[in-house]
Amino acid sequence: MSLEPFEEQRESWGTRGGFVLAAVGSAVGLGNLWRFPYELYDHGGGAFLIPYIIAVFVIGVPMLILEFSLGHFTQRAAPDAFARGHKRFEFIGWWTTLLGFVIISFYAVILAYCFSFMSLSIKGILAGGELPWAGEGLEGVKKAEEFFFHTYLGHKEEFALGSIRWNVFWPLVITWVVMYLCIFRGVRLVGKIVWLTVPLPWLMLLILTVRGLTLEGSIQGLAYYLNPTWSELAKATTWRFAFSQAFFSLSLAFGGVMITYASFLHRRSDLNNNAAIIAIADFGTSFVAGLAVFATLGGMAFVTQQAGHPVAVENVAKGGPSLAFVAFPYALAQLPYSAWFSFVFFFALVTLGIDSGFSITESVLASVVDKTGWKRSIVLPVMSVIGLGTGIIYITEGGLNWLWLIGDFIDGTWGLAFLGLAECMVLGWLWKIDLLRRHANDRSDWRLGKWWDYLIRICIPITLCALFVWSLFGDFTKEGGFLRDGVGDWILPNCVGMSIMILVPLVGILVSFAKGRSRGQGWGNALYELPIRGRLWGVISLVLAVVSALVVAILFKMAVDGQSEKTLLWLALPPAIAAVIISNYMVGTRNGSTAKASWFARWAGLLATADIGGFIALSLIYLTEQKDVAEQVVHAQEQLSGISYLILSAVFLLIIGGLAWCFYRALSTSNEKNDTHYPDEVGLEEH
Ligand code: PHE
Repeated sequence: MSLEPFEEQRESWGTRGGFVLAAVGSAVGLGNLWRFPYELYDHGGGAFLIPYIIAVFVIGVPMLILEFSLGHFTQRAAPDAFARGHKRFEFIGWWTTLLGFVIISFYAVILAYCFSFMSLSIKGILAGGELPWAGEGLEGVKKAEEFFFHTYLGHKEEFALGSIRWNVFWPLVITWVVMYLCIFRGVRLVGKIVWLTVPLPWLMLLILTVRGLTLEGSIQGLAYYLNPTWSELAKATTWRFAFSQAFFSLSLAFGGVMITYASFLHRRSDLNNNAAIIAIADFGTSFVAGLAVFATLGGMAFVTQQAGHPVAVENVAKGGPSLAFVAFPYALAQLPYSAWFSFVFFFALVTLGIDSGFSITESVLASVVDKTGWKRSIVLPVMSVIGLGTGIIYITEGGLNWLWLIGDFIDGTWGLAFLGLAECMVLGWLWKIDLLRRHANDRSDWRLGKWWDYLIRICIPITLCALFVWSLFGDFTKEGGFLRDGVGDWILPNCVGMSIMILVPLVGILVSFAKGRSRGQGWGNALYELPIRGRLWGVISLVLAVVSALVVAILFKMAVDGQSEKTLLWLALPPAIAAVIISNYMVGTRNGSTAKASWFARWAGLLATADIGGFIALSLIYLTEQKDVAEQVVHAQEQLSGISYLILSAVFLLIIGGLAWCFYRALSTSNEKNDTHYPDEVGLEEH
């Protein structure tokens, strides 16, 4: 029996560069320039970088490699890729794909805002520099707010939708048309387009950064960006936002983008090093984007002070998604050549976002095409119209409320990080993950050790599960409740948001039942016909895991009711650890043995990692309960503190050093690789 994947003639990227750029293009998007700066500002400034860097490098890179190797190995988009392991897992693929669809429907709306603001800036340039949102002092801030929320969006506070805003509708149509045009000819063209859409925003960003940093007062702005508020690290939400932001920014765990993109990669291509390059490039872009934004806000604060109507950074950067559409436009309007620079800013946003947007569309498209065998040329237009139609919800008068709500849920307890957890657990425990590692190692510039298996199977699930339980606790103990308010009435919007998060995996399951194109025998199924070993030990460890789960569940319930049981908690740990060790031993391949570990052992391992996560979460809950974590107080920050300089240099060192190392590895192995032949290299195009 061969465990090699199917070989087939699949579309492919032209070159390695085409693929890397497309993946970078997907990763580097609105998430970097629109989301990252405000997430960081809202969650502790420089302190946020700690969870974020952990999320990107300890969890993001290994998971990127996981998605790459899965897509590359199976040569399929997410649902089919999972189904090739076992039909039963297909729904995970649909879950990520459908969540991707939820996201693209609002992502396109934000892009539409960017298009509008870009064209307004052009009009401003033509009108000799007059911008419609420009105003002075605090009045000016109000005017910018007024412009975005009322003049442009016609925003109403209620969740009732109201009428459609046609001035946003047309930009939305443009967004979908542009995305359509970029991908309708297939990935080879995408591989060319990204040579434009990736470097161009970087150039724009460079312009904004240099200009920002040379403004007087910029350092003060950077103080808001980098001076850390350490107490934020004691909050579950800070960590959750950091992890969600990392997943969002790396295009991981939803949409199945990275799986799909890797499936179009030709058979020899490196995977590991590409993943590292993409992650570093994405992180670097976010960080620099933050510098550009806050330096400019600092410059704005200085100018307004000089003019006698001071507006401090915290007056505008109240955080939140409107940073890019209120605070920044206002700040730019205070400075010379404002219309030009607003154009640069919104043009950067458009070019950043468009390739991320179409990457999701492409991935959903590939999922449908792989499953049904329908024609791309028909599915794509239909999908675009559905996406556009869904987007209409968000461009009504009450639409912004829904947009933020869905965004909150994507970031929330049940969102991205949760899906990442499911992905790692299923692939780590229920699959033969070492197969994927070998596949990746066979063709990569550097090799993963066995530690990678443990990371995917044990460490990442524990971390994500701890985070999940910790923030679930927050949802449960929220004053008045999460789904019901103090008086017991349902909070409708939250119920809708929650239903979507529940509905998506359910629909995923349904779709996965639908009969797809015949794909021959999955290699995974072959795996499941192997002789089984370790039933007895499997059962033992399952019992241990269940015991531990019960303890954790009971203590969680008690914690929600306000009681803590520190000593009892320790009961949960030993059985869980024992179960993980036993299961891990059973699941790991042993020399020469082709037998597979029993399902008991696999499920026990999965549950036991969740138990340990629960244990950690409960410990954190007990630890933080007494200390009332103070709300972040933003002090007037005058100077960049010493520690911020340290952070700044450490981050730059990380980015530059990391990239240098990756390129060095790529160069030093490229020569050797030319004469290597891979077992699964059959009937492929040569380049
Ligand atoms: N990574 C993109 C961004 O940062 C968003 C995205 C998420 C794109 C998932 C594709 C898939 O904006």
